[in-house]
Parts: sequence; C-alpha cells; structure tokens
Amino acid sequence: MVDSREARVRKALEGVMDPELNRSIVDMGMVQDLSVEDDQVTFTLALTTMGCPMKDRIQDDARRAAMAVDGVEDVTIQLREMTAEEKERAFGKPTQEGGSASGYNRVRHIIAVVSGKGGVGKSSVSALLAVALRRQGHSVGVLDADITGPSIPKLLLQEVPRLMGSPLGILPAESASGIKVISINLLLENPNQAVIWRGPLISGAIKQFWGDVVWGDLDYLIVDLPPGTSDASLTVMQALPLNGIVMVTTPQGLAGMVVRKAASMAEQLNIPVLGLIENMSFFRCPGCGEVTEIFGPSQAAEVAQAMGVPFLGRLPIDPEIAVLSDQGRLEEYAAEEFAPLAERLLTMVPEGAAQKPPMQG
Ligand SMILES: Nc1ncnc2c1ncn2[C@@H]1O[C@H](COP(=O)(O)OP(=O)(O)O)[C@@H](O)[C@H]1O
Ligand SMILES: [Mg+2]
Repeated sequence: MVDSREARVRKALEGVMDPELNRSIVDMGMVQDLSVEDDQVTFTLALTTMGCPMKDRIQDDARRAAMAVDGVEDVTIQLREMTAEEKERAFGKPTQEGGSASGYNRVRHIIAVVSGKGGVGKSSVSALLAVALRRQGHSVGVLDADITGPSIPKLLLQEVPRLMGSPLGILPAESASGIKVISINLLLENPNQAVIWRGPLISGAIKQFWGDVVWGDLDYLIVDLPPGTSDASLTVMQALPLNGIVMVTTPQGLAGMVVRKAASMAEQLNIPVLGLIENMSFFRCPGCGEVTEIFGPSQAAEVAQAMGVPFLGRLPIDPEIAVLSDQGRLEEYAAEEFAPLAERLLTMVPEGAAQKPPMQG
C-alpha cells in the first residue's frame, strides 16, 4: 500500500492555499521535511518572508488540514524563510524592470483600455469590463494608469482604504466582489490633490503599479490608460506584457479619428488591438424603449472596419452608470448590454503576451 499516512498528510496540505498568492503551499515548495511518526506530524513551513501578513493564517490552515487526516493527533510546525533559490524555484526570477512583488505575481492576461480623448467613458468601460469578468468567476485586477486623472477607485470602491504594505510589496485595495484595485488615488494623502508630475515620475509610478504591487494570482488585469498617446500610454505598452488593447470611442465625429493614433502606437509595438467598443452610442427611453442616437448615427462599425479591428459592440447612455459611479457601486450595474460584449472580447484575447521589441533607453 502506497497511500501511507505521510502521503495522506501531504495530499491534505496540497489543498492549503497561500491566501495572497492563491497557490497551493505544497506546489510552491513551502512544505518541507514532512515526517509522520505514529500520530505525530512534523514539518517545516518555508514562508516567502517572515513578515508575511498571512503567516498565522497559513500556519493555522496547514495545521487544520494535517489534523484532519485520520490518525493524526499532533502537528508541529516549524517556520522559516525561503532562501533566494527556493523563491526563484517557486516563483521564477523576478524580472529586471519588475520590483519586489513581480516575481510572485501570476497574471495570466493583461488588457489595456485606450481612447483617443477623455470623457468618452474609458474608465467606466475598464471598470465594467472588470465587473463582467469577475461575474464570470475570474480573478480580476484593475491597474489605474491614468495618474493625472485617476478615477477607478471612485467607480469601484465605496470607501477609499488606506493601502497596506507587505514585505512583498503594496497590497491592492479590493472591491466588494473582490476586484483588486491600484490607483495613485489610493496612495496620496489627499485623494483630491492634483497630480502634476512630469513624464518620468508618471512612468515610474506605472512601473511600480505593475512590479511592486502584490497582484497575486490573476486571470485578468485591466489597465485603464490615460486618453491619447501620452508618455503613460507608451510606458504601459512597453513595460507591461500586454495581451492586447481595447479601444473606446463615442459616436462624436472626431473620437474615431483620434483613437486611430492610439491604435497605431499599439501596432508599432506589436500589440494586438482586440477590438473597439462604442460607448454612449444611443439612449433607450426607459418608458417606451425607443432608441435615440443622441450623438448622431454610430460610426463605430465603419471605424473598426477601416482599421481592420473587430467591432465588439455598443453601450447605451445610461444614467444608472453615472449614479452608481458617484457612489463607488458600479459593480452593481446590471450591465445586460455589457456581458456579451465582454465575452466577445475574451474570444479575441491571445494566450501569450505580445512579443515586443526590447525597451529603449
Ligand atoms: N454609457 C454611459 N452612460 C452614462 N454615463 C456614462 C457612460 N459612460 C460614461 N459615463 C459618464 O461619463 C463621464 C466620463 O466617463 P469616464 O469613464 O470617466 O471617461 P474617461 O475615462 O474616458 O475620461 C462619467 O461621469 C461617467 O459616469
Ligand atoms: Mg478616465
């Protein structure tokens, strides 16, 4: 019989997850020197860092899992910190641009949302996209790369929390449904303070939001870019392994033209344009259901076709979006129009990150 008590304890411990990273402690090599003698279990728990804020929880969970195995009466756990080699084995080498957290994060897909100009609802679409993905059961984060006009916290968080640091990096805020959020707004003493930083500082902040934030295990990271083709957009497109970008326009004449610039920037960097969404496309009368194209007839399908990118769909002007946004409750938006649109988008997301030319300078 191979299924020894030790094997059963190991199996039980396999089910214990690091709550921050959402990976099994056994898979990460945190459980070591496991031995079972009679009804006594001993093992060492190698933590990513001794200052791990989840230390007690991991230890309790591991103890409980081992105790639940038939015939185990006592569990002794020794704690120590992983060596650099062990960390590398568990998480891979931290990337060079990346900070402390980057080696620990597992972010499977990164999608940036761009627009030609401000006010077209780019941030709203970024947040709604995150909400739609979360509702489908994915683990989701939103990186607010709009340093000078941050708005994601206002949309998704009812209270602006004080962000905590951990030895691994900055812990993001979490919305009611568990969407992780990072924004300059969450790090300023006074969130209403205007950020008037120069390009390099803004780039630095964005790189930190990627490399120094403990995103943990994410299926999707949505990046809300500032409008246009600023330094910040370039930083995101160069420094983050994007899978693609989504463009947001409105029916107003120029919006389509300006967004083309952003698309061409992405193309030059070999980043796929996953599709175009037209926001504030029409108004549906809540009384009679009649549809009015307030900003004129939709041009999105033509714009998309002219650029050779998929047209993902249209979103109505809905006062509910504005109302919920003001209260940090955009998560509660029913978003019937949005779910199919988000699904169409997912079919466009390639598995691997875009292969980009190396960073300059
Ligand atoms: N589909 C929509 N219906 C109604 N209001 C919207 C819609 N999309 C965005 N808004 C509102 O328009 C304003 C600008 O949206 P925002 O997402 O901040 O744009 P951007 O990020 O492009 O500057 C916000 O007040 C937002 O609530
Ligand atoms: Mg915005």
